[in-house]
Amino acid sequence: MTTVEFDPFDYRYHDDPYPIYKQLRDEAPLYWNEKHGFWILSRYEDCRRAIQDFKTFCNGQGQTLEPLKGQVPTVLTTDPPDHTRLRHLVVALFAPAAVASMDALVRDLARELLAPHLVAGRIDIIADFAARLPMAIICQMLGFPREDEDQLRGWTDAVVHRDEGVFEMPEAGLQATFNLYQYYDKAIAKRAGTPPRDDVLGKLIEDEKAGKLSHEEVLGYLYILSIAGNETTTKLIGNMIYQLHHHPLQKALLFQDPSLIASAVEETMRFDGPTQMMARTVTREVEVHGQTLKPGQKIGLLFISANRDERKWPDAETYDVRRTARDHLGFGAGLHACLGAALARLEARVALEEILAGMPNFVVDESALERMHSPSVRGYTKVVLNFTPRGDVAA
Ligand code: HEM
Repeated sequence: MTTVEFDPFDYRYHDDPYPIYKQLRDEAPLYWNEKHGFWILSRYEDCRRAIQDFKTFCNGQGQTLEPLKGQVPTVLTTDPPDHTRLRHLVVALFAPAAVASMDALVRDLARELLAPHLVAGRIDIIADFAARLPMAIICQMLGFPREDEDQLRGWTDAVVHRDEGVFEMPEAGLQATFNLYQYYDKAIAKRAGTPPRDDVLGKLIEDEKAGKLSHEEVLGYLYILSIAGNETTTKLIGNMIYQLHHHPLQKALLFQDPSLIASAVEETMRFDGPTQMMARTVTREVEVHGQTLKPGQKIGLLFISANRDERKWPDAETYDVRRTARDHLGFGAGLHACLGAALARLEARVALEEILAGMPNFVVDESALERMHSPSVRGYTKVVLNFTPRGDVAA
């Protein structure tokens, strides 16, 4: 009988959840949260098996433990055949080959964002950089103007945030969801009567005209891409900088062999990635670890714990940028595997290359760290770095 207690809505678990995740894996690999009424799986093999068995563990009622409120369906919250239809509409735009050609665009933007701070010797790597880079790129891909980025980021932040101990999206999140839908509707209306444009919005508008998806599904696509294309990559960059600050020998390896920078991105995804968990809904009675799960029950797949499962990873608790394994669950797997993984990997790698080049001796100001609060995404909202100012860069 275990005494372990876990509530992902309790802020106490957000700073360092890893000890409780280990306890869950060891003592309660299938855990029942009595207060809110959901299951949690925390071992690698269990999570992977549940992802593959998408008929038993479906996405159709949302990927969060709490019920969906005020949201239209998205590729993430549908099951086949709707999921297959929606995913195929844009998958090619985010494929590794398509994304590889964006290296220069991402690098130019990264340099532009970092430049004014290099002479100062101080930067909030989240607010001044990591929150801006992915939003600027996804806005460009979607076809939204640059001047709208801050507004859109404010709304997407509000959608992901959860109030302490509260098992639902707060009022501000619902309002932000509504504002985002209104924004998309206006953006679509502005294009009426203009020639089709070569961006994601342009493609979705044409696909709607061709009857391939509904208007509601267009809004849902823009919603999931705005949020997913922004929140997690921002947090990945912050977590990576924090881990390298704490592991100076690992950071030194990146200077000795810059080809390890891509591995550092991957290892941060495994060791301290931004995805905590994704939820599923049980569709049929099924036995797991000797207990019976009932149709309609929610189950959280704790990917971040699976990525530290010592049953899967040798020296799971060691941050090692020389690891080459990419089969962590940070980007999920199977049917709903992250559509933007290639883009996120590119942005994080270029970001790290430019940060190491511009501020090689950065040190995190631990007293200024601030964290976001969400059961599904984990990372910082403020990470201040101090470093030797650069006299050779124009502000
Ligand atoms: C470090 C950054 C990122 C992380 C950690 C991440 C993580 C994930 C995870 C774990 C899933 C699987 C969800 C599930 O199994 O229920 C997912 C799905 C998804 N991601 Fe990402 N993601 C990132 C970046 C991005 C970016 C940049 C985009 C946008 C271009 C994106 C778009 C999506 C979409 C649309 C899905 C749903 C795919 C489907 O249901 O078929 N993600 N992501």
